[in-house]
Amino acid sequence: MAEASKVLQIKELDKSFGGVHAINNLTFDVYEGEILGLIGPNGSGKSTCVNLITGVYVQDKGEILFEGEISLKKQPIEARAKMGLGRTFQTPRPFLDMTVWESVYTIALLYNKTMKQAAAQADQIIEMIGFSNIANTVCHKLPIEKRKWLDMARTLAINPKIMMLDECLAGLNPTEMDSSIDFVRKLNSQGITIVFIEHVMAAVSKLCTRVVVLNEGSLLSQGDPNVVMQEEEVIKAYLGEDYVNAYVKG
Ligand SMILES: Nc1ncnc2c1ncn2[C@@H]1O[C@H](COP(=O)(O)OP(=O)(O)OP(=O)(O)O)[C@@H](O)[C@H]1O
Ligand SMILES: [Mg+2]
Repeated sequence: MAEASKVLQIKELDKSFGGVHAINNLTFDVYEGEILGLIGPNGSGKSTCVNLITGVYVQDKGEILFEGEISLKKQPIEARAKMGLGRTFQTPRPFLDMTVWESVYTIALLYNKTMKQAAAQADQIIEMIGFSNIANTVCHKLPIEKRKWLDMARTLAINPKIMMLDECLAGLNPTEMDSSIDFVRKLNSQGITIVFIEHVMAAVSKLCTRVVVLNEGSLLSQGDPNVVMQEEEVIKAYLGEDYVNAYVKG
C-alpha cells in the first residue's frame, strides 16, 4: 500500500506569549485521511497549535506546510479557511441571535458563488447533522451539545479538507459523546482529515489511529494511542511523577 501523503507538516514551530513558551520546537505531520489525536495535559499547547495552523497566531519560528509545498506563514486566516483548514473552538461561538439555519448560511455565503448555492449547502449540512427540525431555532436556546454540533456544521460550510476539533466532547454525557464520536467518524469517512483534541482517553482510543502527545509545548511522544498511553513519560506528564512512582513502578 502506498504511504499516505502528508497534508500538514509542522516543522520546528515556536510560539511564546511574553514569558510563556507555549510551543517549543514542535515537529509533527498530519497524514491525509487520518484521525489524528492531539493530546496532552492542560496548558501543553494543543489549542495554540491549532491557532498557529489556522492563522489566529503567527509563529515566532518554524514552518507549517499544507499539502506538501504551500507555506502557510504569510497566508491570512481567510485564505487558510479557503484552502480547507477548518476548526471548531474549545468554547463554541455560534451567532447567538441567529437561527440555526442562518448561522450555517452566513458561513456558506462566504464560500459559495451565489446565495442560492449557499442556501442549498446550508440545507444539506443541516440535514446531514440531523438539525432540520430545529433549523429555525434561535442559537441561544440551544443546549451545549447542540452548540458543539452547530460549530461543526458551520465548519463544514467552508468545505474543509481538515477539521481540527478542539475538545468537541467536553461537557457531554456518555450518550452524547457516543453520537459525537459516530459523527466524527462519518465526517472522516467522507474524506475529511481529522485532528481530534481531547482529554477523554476512551474517546481518543476509540477514534484515533495515531496520537501526537504534547507536553509544555514540546512533542513528548507519538504513535498508536494504546501504546503511547502506556508510556511512563506520558503517564507522568498527565498524572505527575508521584503517581508513576506509586502506581506504575509499584
Ligand atoms: N493568547 C495567549 N496569551 C498568553 N498566553 C497564552 C495565550 N494562549 C495560550 N497561552 C498559554 O500558552 C500555554 C498553552 O496554552 P493552550 O491553550 O494552547 O493549551 P491547551 O493544551 O489547549 O490546554 P487545555 O487542555 O487546557 O485546553 C498555556 O500556558 C497558556 O496559558
Ligand atoms: Mg485547549
